[in-house]
Amino acid sequence: MRRIIVSLLLTVGITGMAQAAGDPAAGQAKAAVCGACHGPDGNSMAPIFPKLAGQGERYLNKQLHDIKSGARQVPEMTGLLTNLSDQDLADLAAYFNSQHGSVGAADDKVVARGEALFRGGKLDAGMPACTGCHSPNGAGNAMAGFPHLGGQHAQYVTKQLTDFREGNRTNDGDTMVMRSIAAKLSNKDIEAIASYVQGLH
Ligand code: HEC
Ligand code: HEC
Repeated sequence: MRRIIVSLLLTVGITGMAQAAGDPAAGQAKAAVCGACHGPDGNSMAPIFPKLAGQGERYLNKQLHDIKSGARQVPEMTGLLTNLSDQDLADLAAYFNSQHGSVGAADDKVVARGEALFRGGKLDAGMPACTGCHSPNGAGNAMAGFPHLGGQHAQYVTKQLTDFREGNRTNDGDTMVMRSIAAKLSNKDIEAIASYVQGLH
C-alpha cells in the first residue's frame, strides 16, 4: 500500500513539474533558430531585435504565447512558433531567462530627462514612475511578469513605447497598464527614457 502511494506521488509530482516549469537545457537545444535574430545567448546585436537574456521567465513565456496566438503581432516571427508546444515555449523562456543580459550606454544629452521620468514619473499628468514595476535598476519583477528592461536596446524600447501609445501593441492586459502610461509620453520623453534604459543596470 505504502509503495503504491509513493509511486503515485512520484508520477503526479513528475508530470506536474514537466507542465509547470521550463527546462533551460531543453530550451537551449530548441533555440538555434532564434539565435539568428536574438543572439545565441539572447543578447542580440541589431537594435531592432530585443535582447531576451534575463528578462524574466513568466514575461518571456507570456510573450511567446501572445506572439504565437497573434495577440502580439511580430511579422518577423510568422510561422516560427506554430509547431511548438506549450512545453517548448516554457523551455525557450527558461533558457533565455537563464542567460546574462548585456548593458549598453545612455546618451549624455538626454540621460537626465530620461532618469527623471523613469524614477519620478509625471505626477501632474498622473503617470506613475517606471521604477514601481520595473524596479529602480530596471531589473523588473520576475514573479509578477514585469519585464527586466535594463540594458535593452534603445531603438527597440522606443518602438515598444510608441506601439503602446499608438495602440499597435495591445497585449498589456485589460488594465491597459502600458498603453495608459505611454499615452502620457511625448516623442522626446520616449527618446530620453529609451536611452536611459539602454545604459541602466
Ligand atoms: C527573423 C528574426 C527573428 C527570429 C528568427 C526570432 N525572432 Fe523573436 N522577435 C523578433 C522581432 C523583430 C521582435 C520584436 C518585434 C517588435 O518590435 O515588437 C521579436 C520579439 C520576441 C520576443 C518578445 C521580446 C520582448 O522583449 O517582449 C520574444 C520572447 C521572442 N521574440 C522570442 C523568440 C524565440 C524564442 C525565437 C525562436 C523560436 C525567436 N524569437 C525568433 C525577431 C525574430
Ligand atoms: C504598474 C506597473 C507598470 C509601470 C508603472 C510601468 N510598466 Fe512597463 N510594463 C508593465 C508590464 C506588466 C509590462 C508587460 C506587458 C505585457 O505582458 O506585454 C510592461 C512592459 C513594458 C515594456 C515592454 C518591454 C519589452 O521587452 O517589450 C517597456 C519598454 C516598458 N514596460 C517600459 C516602461 C516605462 C518606460 C515605464 C515608465 C514610464 C513603465 N514601463 C511603467 C508594467 C508597468
